[in-house]
Amino acid sequence: MKAIKKAVFPVAGMGTRFLPATKANPKEMLPVVDKPLIQYAAEEAVAAGIDTLIFVTGRNKRSIEDHFDTAYELESELEAKQKHKMLAVLRNILPSHVNCVFIRQSQALGLGHAVLCARPVVNDEPFAVILADDLINFAEKPCLSQMVELFNFQHCSILGTEPVPKEDVSSYGIVAGVEVKPGLMEVSGIVEKPSSEEAPSNVAVVGRYILTPRIFDLLEKTQQGAGNEIQLTDAIAELLKEQRVLAYNFQGRRFDCGSKLGYLKAQVEFALVHEEVGEEFREFLAKLHTRLDDNVIELGKKSNA
Ligand code: UTP
Repeated sequence: MKAIKKAVFPVAGMGTRFLPATKANPKEMLPVVDKPLIQYAAEEAVAAGIDTLIFVTGRNKRSIEDHFDTAYELESELEAKQKHKMLAVLRNILPSHVNCVFIRQSQALGLGHAVLCARPVVNDEPFAVILADDLINFAEKPCLSQMVELFNFQHCSILGTEPVPKEDVSSYGIVAGVEVKPGLMEVSGIVEKPSSEEAPSNVAVVGRYILTPRIFDLLEKTQQGAGNEIQLTDAIAELLKEQRVLAYNFQGRRFDCGSKLGYLKAQVEFALVHEEVGEEFREFLAKLHTRLDDNVIELGKKSNA
């Protein structure tokens, strides 16, 4: 089987949980400290050996295209002001051997439909899917690199998974299966957003997938499912009937940056270890902690109301 060289980034969702911030800007452009979520995702893909980044964009696409494009005016200004460090940051957003392709999903019909939109570029190769709002870090090896390594050995579709509390299963695709070794499951079933009573396990699929191209044929036939969307989960359920699919509990920590709380946690944890601001931020947090009492919180709430 061919190597994984292409990654699909579905970025055409409505991002309703983050309105109004996502009214004119995709949520994948929200920054964690100083980098937008989509850049963390692109860097993870490149680290895993991917050379073609396929962005499936929607009505607010421009900022993502601009982010990965050369910013000539900005560069010449930084050059003139001798701001070499920032210039290097701008120029190194992606290595030169990496290509970006942008495809438009004209209607937000669901994640499955977004992935299907990438078919003309992916063709008949196995490929990765990264949902940039699941920010995964704090591992020795980035999540997608772990999965590509596993793929090179197993040659089948792999779902990035994580055990979640039982009360949260209704927010995820949940898998059933048999553990073949610790952290690796042979998937026998998958269901999108089950109730906690119906869920076959608490192993949730998160925003990392390696899929064989057969998924495209199955997505073509997939009808609208949960939430009236064309669900990737439903096509994976069909794929399972024909091919092996593994669920891999990756190493690393995941921040659900599609939710406000997950995003805030990511900001804090990434800021705590940030090269430039980490030390001062740690001091700030320590001081904040000592003066956080009910009065301060009440006052803050009033002034933000
Ligand atoms: P979500 O389920 O998080 O939906 O999509 P959303 O619209 O982005 O956010 P909320 O729930 O309204 O706040 C999961 C991923 O699939 C992409 C999203 O951009 C996100 O990366 N997606 C979803 C598409 O690209 N197209 C779609 O039609 C739906």
